[in-house]
Amino acid sequence: MTTDLLIRAMTEADLVDLVRNEKEKPVWSAAQFAEELYHPHAWQFVACHDASSNIIGYVCCRTVAGEAEILKIFVSADSRGHGVGSMLLGAALQRMAEEDAARCFLEVRESNIIARNLYEKFGFRRIGMRRNYYSSPREDAIVYRSSIKKISGFGS
Ligand SMILES: CC(C)(COP(=O)(O)OP(=O)(O)OC[C@H]1O[C@@H](n2cnc3c(N)ncnc32)[C@H](O)[C@@H]1OP(=O)(O)O)[C@@H](O)C(=O)NCCC(=O)NCCS
Repeated sequence: MTTDLLIRAMTEADLVDLVRNEKEKPVWSAAQFAEELYHPHAWQFVACHDASSNIIGYVCCRTVAGEAEILKIFVSADSRGHGVGSMLLGAALQRMAEEDAARCFLEVRESNIIARNLYEKFGFRRIGMRRNYYSSPREDAIVYRSSIKKISGFGS
């Protein structure tokens, strides 16, 4: 389990590092990352060992009208299985709670058992399927939803 990890907001200065990480499908270009960075409802976190080290993971999300969406979560191949994805997803769910989102939705390839295990560990439940949603290779998407736990304030 990774303990010494910095989770921070993604910035434009991260674009080169992010694109270097994109060796697996679905691959995002610098333009796609930039579009997310400047989208009014989008926000992102990156994970790194410290402020001066390369990015080892990221999560891209959107929140609008009380509902959140996880567009993408990624951990570099050589950093997987050490809790980085869990820390990123935990940080994202925390931010959704701070933004008073009631629910979070996401889609994942049916065959992506590792990601599905991660999502289910964090309370996401399968609510549907989108036939042939993905291409190259063509595959169904499983749609997941999770209720976002409210953050208790003082006296509540
Ligand atoms: C999915 C992904 C983000 C997980 O990141 P990670 O840092 O390896 O995840 P963690 O180490 O925090 O593990 C979290 C959970 O995932 C599941 N998991 C992790 N590795 C697994 C493996 N090899 N086999 C099965 N389940 C696994 C487990 O449920 C694990 O919880 P546990 O450690 O309590 O058993 C990472 O595998 C990845 O980047 N994959 C490629 C991109 C991708 O598929 N993203 C999702 C769709 S956008």
